[in-house]
Amino acid sequence: MSIGFTRKNAALQCDGVAVSKLAAEYGTPLWLYSQSVLEARYKLFAASLADLKPTICYALKANSNQAVIATFAKLGAGADIVSAGELLRALQAGVPPHKIVFAGVGKTAEEMALALDAGILQFNVESGEELARLSAVAQAQHGIARVALRVNPNVDAKTHKKITTGKTENKFGIEIAHAMALAEQARSLKGVAIEAISTHIGSQITDVTPYRAAFKRMADMATALRAQGHALKRIDFGGGLGVVYKDETPPDLKAYAAAVRAAVKGLGLDLIVEPGRWLVADAGALVARVEYVKKGSAKSFAILDAAMNDLIRPTLYEAWMPIEPVAAPRKGRKRLYDVVGPVCESGDFFTHDRDLPPLEQGDLVAVRQAGAYGAVMSSTYNARPLAPEVLVKGKRHAAVRARQTLAELIGQDALAPWQTKSKPKR
Ligand code: LLP
Repeated sequence: MSIGFTRKNAALQCDGVAVSKLAAEYGTPLWLYSQSVLEARYKLFAASLADLKPTICYALKANSNQAVIATFAKLGAGADIVSAGELLRALQAGVPPHKIVFAGVGKTAEEMALALDAGILQFNVESGEELARLSAVAQAQHGIARVALRVNPNVDAKTHKKITTGKTENKFGIEIAHAMALAEQARSLKGVAIEAISTHIGSQITDVTPYRAAFKRMADMATALRAQGHALKRIDFGGGLGVVYKDETPPDLKAYAAAVRAAVKGLGLDLIVEPGRWLVADAGALVARVEYVKKGSAKSFAILDAAMNDLIRPTLYEAWMPIEPVAAPRKGRKRLYDVVGPVCESGDFFTHDRDLPPLEQGDLVAVRQAGAYGAVMSSTYNARPLAPEVLVKGKRHAAVRARQTLAELIGQDALAPWQTKSKPKR
């Protein structure tokens, strides 16, 4: 049996289970994840770097469902977290604390305390102020926080402007010269030990050149820090490896691994990497039903029961996502469609002007490559409940997050004590 999303008699399946069957059972909109693909991607990634014995800290932000994290944890993954919530998610899914790195520009003192308590591997620190706070928090707990200085190598990752992070105009990381100085200042801070340097230059990177440039700068910096007497133990190269949505040509694993290998060779440092999208994008799809087809003179609008609140990537990043009918494509010439949702905004779209096989009311469609930055970025805008997530493995499938009920959604609100529940005036 082939794994993941394949077609049998032209109808879409996930791990051999008919997607139409899953849609009937769980309703739409619906997130589907193939556990076999998650496992296969992780194993491929790990194998490509195996000789370097890296700690692979899965970037939870890409998809932090417990079932997804647990799948990777079982295969030996660590976690890259950015909040107390993600810390808890990682721990509950079985990620060992000594494989957790904590990134992000705005860690609160409370989050630091929780992560210290848990005994995580390292804090990727992004500023002098953060370092001072971390030191104080650690001292208050009579401990020492292991730190990686997050460096901004000023390399253009050549990706979408909202997900590029390694240029000096981005809020992320510390410029190399400043980081060198900060490492010196850190000697007087009793609650921190600078053990590593880290970087992450952006996401959906499709060219290996920026990686090479950034990794080289990091390796040079590690050497310089050592020359200053800092006992470095680790180097963290972040994530960012791109996937194919349409016609991108991201570096293959071999090219990526070669860039990593070339940079760390001879350094004698432990390696950390933080892949997110590459591990999960391909494993997931958003399945939705066509509610209406509105035919215009220039094009038609296929209006789905999923919307921008479910999957925000198209409108937020102008992202092109593959969209396919779930059943065998209807016969007839392809037509030009805007595939949109029911939310009251023109920004609520999945695609504009896409040639698709004829669509009719009631048809199911799948938005593919949606395992990364899909469900995690969804909201309840327009009071639309969060869609369920279903994990498929072989013939088995289970809701790994149930559809949010309207009672749950609305029940989070409360009236202020001074508001009476009496009927509104007529
Ligand atoms: N490490 C750090 C410090 C990060 O900030 C990120 C992603 C990663 C690792 C994982 O990067 P990946 O391997 O997934 O590219 N919502 C956007 C992507 C935002 C990425 C944020 N940081 C999207 O849908 O394209």
